[in-house]
Amino acid sequence: MNKRGVFITLEGIDGAGKSTQLRLLTGWLRRHGYRPCVTREPGGTRVGEQIRNILLSSANRKLTPLAELLLMYAARHQHLEEVVRPALARGELVLSDRFNDASLAYQGFGRGLGERPVRLLDELICGSLQPDLTLILDAPPSVALRRASQRGEGADRRRFENIGLRFQGRVRKGYHEIARHEPRRVKLINADRPAREVQTEIREIVNSFLSERSTLKDSSRRRKRLKSEGRKK
Ligand code: TYD
Repeated sequence: MNKRGVFITLEGIDGAGKSTQLRLLTGWLRRHGYRPCVTREPGGTRVGEQIRNILLSSANRKLTPLAELLLMYAARHQHLEEVVRPALARGELVLSDRFNDASLAYQGFGRGLGERPVRLLDELICGSLQPDLTLILDAPPSVALRRASQRGEGADRRRFENIGLRFQGRVRKGYHEIARHEPRRVKLINADRPAREVQTEIREIVNSFLSERSTLKDSSRRRKRLKSEGRKK
């Protein structure tokens, strides 16, 4: 596909501080002239938000890990077709609160499904449409879980958060593995410190990523121009 925009995703275990950081990052990008398309998973579309309700509802304890993974990817397909692809095709900067790395970390590592089913589905649903930059907010589960419980969300949203420290520990390990495998795309950020410090690091990473990209774009434009000028001669 002809992908012209930029796709940035934000990840981390529950309570790592994603929402705060996403809000701060969005504000900063807007102040710098970007009009980010801010979205989230599971959700981001009408159908996706309904799937999200099934996934997060504590009434659905019987959902099997594989059914959970399939629902995540069903919501993701809808999200890609309705939101992400069109925005990237318009050249926008898409900022997603979670994306496919969450499935590997939560379902692959957390629920113990392993990498294979996740990679299979990912190939089918996302294919080459992968994030350009992924920021993982990294914090020990004990710290993150304390934060998550302070948010005081309704019990119905706790299907994930209730499953405890050991589960979140496995998810965290999954995120570490992802970061280790793809150090260029994935940046692990220490989120166990004041939000402002975390935001400073995020901005530095995003800033250098965006400047590098625009330099690359400029030089490829320059190359094209030189080529066409060469042909004219
Ligand atoms: P999130 O929106 O981060 O929750 P909150 O609004 O409470 O911060 O994500 C909802 C839950 O879904 C979260 O516990 C992580 C989980 N999740 C997966 O297990 N797999 C996935 O592929 C995605 C996108 C999310």
